[in-house]
Amino acid sequence: MRLTDRTLNVPASPIAEAQAWLSKRSSDRPLLNGSQAAPNYPTAPAISARIAEVANEASGGFYAPSPGMPSLNTAFADELATGFELADSDRVLTDEILPTAGCNQAFCVVSSALCEPGDEVIVPVPYYFNHQMWLQLDGVKPVFLETGESLLPDPAAAEALITDKTRAILLVTPGNPTGVTIGPDIIHAFYDLAESRGLALMIDETYRNFRETTEPPHRLYEREGWQETLITLHSFSKDLAIPGYRVGAIVAGTPVIEEAMKLVDCVQISAPRVGQEAVIAGLTGAGEWRDAQVSRILNNLDVFRSVMAEEPGGFRLAASGAFFGWIQHPFTHLTTAEVIKRLVLDHDVLAIPGTAFTPTDERWIRFSYANLDPTQIAELGKRLTEAGDALAS
Ligand SMILES: Cc1ncc(COP(=O)(O)O)c(C=O)c1O
Repeated sequence: MRLTDRTLNVPASPIAEAQAWLSKRSSDRPLLNGSQAAPNYPTAPAISARIAEVANEASGGFYAPSPGMPSLNTAFADELATGFELADSDRVLTDEILPTAGCNQAFCVVSSALCEPGDEVIVPVPYYFNHQMWLQLDGVKPVFLETGESLLPDPAAAEALITDKTRAILLVTPGNPTGVTIGPDIIHAFYDLAESRGLALMIDETYRNFRETTEPPHRLYEREGWQETLITLHSFSKDLAIPGYRVGAIVAGTPVIEEAMKLVDCVQISAPRVGQEAVIAGLTGAGEWRDAQVSRILNNLDVFRSVMAEEPGGFRLAASGAFFGWIQHPFTHLTTAEVIKRLVLDHDVLAIPGTAFTPTDERWIRFSYANLDPTQIAELGKRLTEAGDALAS
């Protein structure tokens, strides 16, 4: 048997690699685990109660309809209408929504529907590693758009990267790994660019509800004919704390939805029924619980920022938001992989090396503070100070 170079040449997910360090730890001091953005708290009671009911229904284990369970598509169209302040005439239609098994699958099927092998997608750096991995696995070239100190992508710089192979521009806002929210003006400028060049603008909005504002992220659903240009990708994993139920969604014009549905049909048939039921329960009956999680995580963000403002151990917080802090370590004599190893084995802090999100080692570390409580975040400051002293020599 022979495996393809296409998969062999793509490294495994950095999350699995980070988790592997855990078995090598000998310390019994509790770990501060900032490696994952998946919620580590239980889902809303309204959701778990509904799941228990579904498990006992005769149809509980059936396939779900391929275009999505009608009440999910309606509940999500309502959610978008509220969050984006859409007039009735601008509402996203239920057949412009396709539930998927998570936002990762949404990205994979959309990019496969848009790109042939050899095509190019413009991807701001730092990128979400699964996006880069999938493009590479699918034979598509990610063309990296540097974002500099601001970590905000610049439409003019993106325009300079467009070639006759470019099919799409990708934005992730708030960003993973930086947490940076891209403002509506920049998003609108990217839309204008994509529209004028006949490209797709894909926006991954996984962390939309964890922004520090309740203003609509953009006004693109109000644009005449947005379906020709815009594709947005959504996740219910973080919002409803159900990453294992695997539900996300694509919002796009019906021609894109129809192609994406063929791809979902082959790999998944449909997004899991039990997951879709969880989302329906969450969107229609867990509003207070969702608000409470968002304010708790925003409070953690304040604590995290004030702890990191001291630059403990020389670790510099360059950006933060949603679930993440994007931190630069000061150790020019060490690789970031070595710093991550020392942090977990000697200082009981688990983080992801920035090299999972950038093509070269620029001393970045992604730390997800969202799953820690304020006391643990204060303790993180102490451990980084301790690590700074130990690693400087
Ligand atoms: C930017 C981004 N997109 C997509 C995903 C995957 O989400 P899902 O669980 O819905 O597949 C994540 C998860 O970390 C993410 O950070």
